Parts: sequence; structure tokens; C-alpha cells
Amino acid sequence: MVPINQWIKIKAPATVANMVCGFDILGFAVNNPYDEMEMRLVSRTTDAAGNFNQASITIINIDNYNLPTDPEKNVAGAALLAMIEECTLVDFSKIGFEVKINKLIKPGSGVGSSAASSAGAVVGANYLLGNPFTKDDLVRFAMNGEKVASGVKHADNIAPCIHGGVTLVRSIFPLEIIALPSPTLFVTIVHPQIEVRTADARSILKQNVQLKDAIKQWGNIAGLVAGLMKGDYDLIGRSLEDVIIEPIRSILIPGFDDLKKACKAAGALGGGISGSGPSIFFLSKEKETALAVEQEMIKLYKGIGLAHHTYVTTINQTGVEIEC
Ligand code: HSE
Repeated sequence: MVPINQWIKIKAPATVANMVCGFDILGFAVNNPYDEMEMRLVSRTTDAAGNFNQASITIINIDNYNLPTDPEKNVAGAALLAMIEECTLVDFSKIGFEVKINKLIKPGSGVGSSAASSAGAVVGANYLLGNPFTKDDLVRFAMNGEKVASGVKHADNIAPCIHGGVTLVRSIFPLEIIALPSPTLFVTIVHPQIEVRTADARSILKQNVQLKDAIKQWGNIAGLVAGLMKGDYDLIGRSLEDVIIEPIRSILIPGFDDLKKACKAAGALGGGISGSGPSIFFLSKEKETALAVEQEMIKLYKGIGLAHHTYVTTINQTGVEIEC
């Protein structure tokens, strides 16, 4: 266990969920952007009246997003509460967690901002406690943060954020995560500066899928997994197609169809909406192509006068990192 009051630093990567065709099951972590956090264990004492000097979880925001600090309403807090409930190692009436969060991943951007906070918190807490939990336990706890953020316990951001690389969530209950290999891929992300709430982007989806669409989607998911495993770039590119979710959600993102055409024409293998949007990502085999794709993104959003941020990055293979 890390001694009481000793701060640790945590780096929690952004993630791209769905990977176009794999709604709620596929995702990957990226090296940029990422959130920074600090955590420490604190001792909890009581005064003569029995009042604690310290809550079991204290959240301190050091960014300007004004996110809730009540642990039940904060994604990191909700994830930690789930961990505390299962942890018999420590008496949480005597010990608590203090968490400082500096969000460099803008909330509502579609690159796993809530997942980074939840995953960062539970990986940090586990480290402070001497690593009693497995990575899959940590994913389970962190999914409680996703429930707070979007109303649903999905793991397609959390799993890659904790495991790193590309992950497949074969099942949530019981949890089964499969780490997938991938050839070298460059990732270009554009974040048009509008906010799309995941809960809203989920509420507009149809609850029924036509069999012909399901068959297409299964083919693409299987093709993408096979392409990643074989390092077959063309197969990866052909499989990055979503006939179920994208046609509905893309209407929330200005310029989506034109952007897609321009990025493909610039040589990207393929791409689409990152998570529930509004960020859009494209994968490329070469860095030069990824940079050319970035220029197309900038050109398009400058053209329609929409503020935006872009990132050219690679797949993060380590997941949440602890620096002491
Ligand atoms: N799979 C989730 C969704 C990811 O698309 O709603 C949210 O980031």
C-alpha cells in the first residue's frame, strides 16, 4: 500500500469507442489527448460529536469544467464508490481517497472523457491499495461512472482506457474483454466544438434493426477483427462501415458526410464517429496520410466556420499509467 498522504500522478488516455461498426463492443485508446489526475489516501478521523474530518471520497476539480464533486454524481466518484463497496482490505471509515482531476479531454467530446476519469480513478485507487483488483474488476467498477454519464453501463471506452490497445467487449454481464492486436495505425481526430451528450445520442437510436443491416454489420465487425489480427490494412479499411448507428447519429454532426468523403480521398483507410460524437476519427497506414487527413478536417471546419481541435496520434498500448 502507498503510505497515507503520498500523492501519485495518473495519466488516463482518451479512447475511441465503437470503432465505427462495433457499437458498444469495440474501442481503442490513443496517446493524445489524456487526462491528468492525482490521488492519495487520507486518514479519516472523527471529532467528539462523531463527525468525520474527511469524506471517504473527496473530488477536487482543477480544471474549469465545473463538474460535480459529489461522489455519487461524479463519474470518478461513482467508480470509486463501487470499488469501496467490494474492497474488504481496508476500513473505509478510517481511510479515504482524495482525487484531483485535471480534464484535458473536454467532457462531451466523444473521445471517452468520462471513461478517462472513471478508469483513472479506479486504477489509481487500486495502485494506492497495493493492486488487490484485476483489470477486469477495475473495468467493472469504472462502468458505474459510465452509468452516471450516459445512463448505461457500457465498457467500450473503459476497457481500452484500462487495458490499452484495441479491445473487444464480448460480454458485459459477465464481463469478458478480449485484447486485440493491431498493426501500426495513425489516428486523426477532429473535435468540432459542439457538445453531443451521450445520453441524447443514444436516445435517438432505433431499438430494432433490420436483419439485412445486422448481417452487414456482423460481416464488418468480423472483418475488422480479422483485419486487425492479420495486419491487413485493406480489410480494416473495407470493414470500417456502419449501416446501423452512423446514418442516425451523423445528422448531429455538421459536415459529417463531406468530411468523410474528403478524408477517404486523402487516403485514410476509413473512419467515422468517435463514440457518440461529435468527434470524428480516421485511421491511416502512414503518418503523412494522417497529417493530410488532418488538413482536410481543418479545411472543412474552417469552411463552415465551426471552431475545432484536431489530433494526430497513435494507438496507446499501455492504458492508464501511474507516475509516482
Ligand atoms: N458506445 C457508446 C455509444 C460510446 O456510442 O453510445 C459512448 O462514448
